[in-house]
This record gives sequence, C-alpha cells and structure tokens, in this order.
Amino acid sequence: MRINRKRLQESMDALGRVGETRGGGLTRLALSDEDRRGRDLLIGWMREAGLSVSVDRMGNIVGQRAGAEGLPPVMMGSHADSVPTGGKYDGQLGVLCALEAIRSLDDHRVRTRHPVGMIIFTNEEGARFQPAMLGSAVMAGKIPLEDAYNARDRDGVRLGDELERIGYLGPEPCLPRPFRAYLELHIEQGPVLEEERIPVGVVEGIVAISWSRLVLRGVQDHAGPTPMRIRHDALVAAAEVIRGVRDIPRRIGGDIVATVGRLDVAPNIPNAIPGRAGLSIDLRDPEDATLDRALGLLDRAVKDAARHEGVSYELEHYWRVPRTPFHLEVVGAIEAAARSLGCGYRRILSGAGHDAQYMATICPTGMVFVPSRGGRSHCEEEFTAMDDIEHGANTLLLAAASLAGRVE
Ligand code: GLV
Ligand code: MN
Ligand code: MN
Repeated sequence: MRINRKRLQESMDALGRVGETRGGGLTRLALSDEDRRGRDLLIGWMREAGLSVSVDRMGNIVGQRAGAEGLPPVMMGSHADSVPTGGKYDGQLGVLCALEAIRSLDDHRVRTRHPVGMIIFTNEEGARFQPAMLGSAVMAGKIPLEDAYNARDRDGVRLGDELERIGYLGPEPCLPRPFRAYLELHIEQGPVLEEERIPVGVVEGIVAISWSRLVLRGVQDHAGPTPMRIRHDALVAAAEVIRGVRDIPRRIGGDIVATVGRLDVAPNIPNAIPGRAGLSIDLRDPEDATLDRALGLLDRAVKDAARHEGVSYELEHYWRVPRTPFHLEVVGAIEAAARSLGCGYRRILSGAGHDAQYMATICPTGMVFVPSRGGRSHCEEEFTAMDDIEHGANTLLLAAASLAGRVE
C-alpha cells in the first residue's frame, strides 16, 4: 500500500494558492479570510473522502473514517495557518499527507480496527495570536478556552471574535478525547536531514520552549531640543536587551537558541525619542533546567539595561512548554514503517514546537520529519522535494495503519 503522489501534489498546489505571496510563499494568518478559505477547501476534500467532519469550540477541525470496531481513533494532523511571508510546507504538508493517507486507505480498501482520522489545529503558529499551538493546548486542557478566546492580535482583535467571524466557532467541546495515537508529519525546519541525505526523520521528542514579553517604558520627547544627558530612551534599552539575549547562548553553550523576533516601538517616528518598546523573547533548549538558567540570565540582562537607561519595565514569562519525549510505541511504529519502505531514516529531536507537543500529554504521540532545503522555514524559500515527501507520507500511512490495526 502506497500513497498517490500525483494526487498529493495536486492538493498541495491547490491549497498552496490560498494566501500565496508574490514571492511564492504563503501568508495565511490564523483566522484570517485566507485561513477560512483554506479550511473550506480542506473540509470539502475531507467530506469527499467520506470522513465525518466536526468543528470544535476552538475551531479545530476533526475528520474521522470509520473503523471496524468502536475503538478510540488513530489521529493524524497538523495546522493550516502560516506565519507572514512563510512557506507552503510548514503545517499544511502534514494536513495534506494525513488526508492523502486516508484517501490511500480507501484506494486500497483497507479496513482498520481503530478508526483513522485527521485534525487541523487552530493557531499553531502563534504569529497572529500568542502563544503558539493554542488549538491543541486547549484540547489538551493546558490553556482554558476563555483565555484562548481572549488572546488579541496586534490590532486588538479578539481570537474568539475572529473564530466567530470566519464561521469556525464550532459546536463540539474542545476536550481531551480518547485517542489511540496522534501522528504528525512535518518539515524538519532545520538542516540535519538534508545534510545527511536522509528522507525521513523519526522524531523522538521536542525541545523545551519559553516565550517572554517585555515592555520598556522611557520618556517620549523631542529628538531635537532634548539633550542627551536627560534622555530615557526605551529603544536604546531594547537594543541592549537584544544584545544581551544574543549573549545567552554564548554564555551557556550547548544547543540553546535565543531569539528576539518582535519589536514594537512607539511612537516610531524619526523625530521623537521612543517612549515605549515592546519585545518578544523566544528561548529553546533540549533541557528544561537549561531554560531555567537562561531565564535567570534574561532577567538580569533586562534589569541591567533598564538601569543603564533609566527606564522602567514589565517582563512576563508567559508561556512554557517542557521538553516532550514521544511515545516509544509510536516512535517504534514510525521507525518500522520507514524501515519497511527501505528508505533512509534516522532519529531526530525537534527544535520547533508542534501541536504534537500538547497531544503527547493526552495520548501516545509521534512525528515524521521530511527534509527542509537549506534547513530553511518560516520564510518563502521553504521547500521539500517531492521524492522526500513521498517517503514521509508513506511512512505516515504505514505507521497509522499499523497502529490502527489492519483487518485482513
Ligand atoms: C512553531 O512554528 C514554533 O514556534 O516552533
Ligand atoms: Mn508547523
Ligand atoms: Mn511554524
């Protein structure tokens, strides 16, 4: 049993046009009109494939194919939202490979003991609404539904209102359900598989992640008449913090990564001293204890920068996901599937967060990675070769069928 590569490619092309950018990438922010159009297209395909489709109160879309017995389903899935000027593979590839796996079970008239299904999670990226992975977080009971609804984008628009506006505030409760397993195919988003010329990554787990937000408040004043000696410039303090964040990995060593990805400056005009600067800080490491150490260094760096410039600040470490090891049985099923295909594979740790990280807290979970060209993602240049995708999708299909139990 194998997937239909041509059909998968056609689906990738069609979905990839929804929110396509001039540079050949994708801007399909969570709960935008583009997200709604992508969801509508996917639901149409899921219904054509005979799935029973439901939408929960977080807008997560769940489709299920009947099993031979009334058992908990094996779920596959990922997300269909993207970052701004992102790529056409992050998230959507996992959703489409899940759909293709289900279509392939039908092509080959395979019956399984457990039902097999797919989930499309809401707001995985955390680009528009923070934090990331909100749909799976609520499903896993890690973030209350009301808190998720109250997340606001840059313009102050509420997530709950946007869900309603695009018609995806569904009736089903968003709760942990009994799942036999959850499987997610995703691009690696790093360089390892490509460098080693290996098409399939058997993901053993995901690193620990921490997100913080910092607001620095200085004194907004005129850029001309205000002498340097009396200034309290929020952006100058921000610059020192950014430098300090960059120094954290140098001081700690090992695999830790640290990023300031967002900077909002007010009033953001040429002739005023910035009175306010907002920053995001993203820290990741395979070990939770290392992140604790990094957060201590961050606290120190912010305190020092604020003192040097005479500004006040609020620093909030508002989101934390621990290192997540995947389930041995699921990892084993994925590895066995790759082995049976005769393609190269290796075990790998994910440096990116995925819905699988929250799903792992409620059911046996694992992931399949495929290579990213140049290791690049969250950019328009994101690309994975179709030969690699085919190996990955077949691995997903065979692992799901084996966990669901084929009925001969
Ligand atoms: C999700 O894209 C993440 O931030 O890892
Ligand atoms: Mn993703
Ligand atoms: Mn992403």
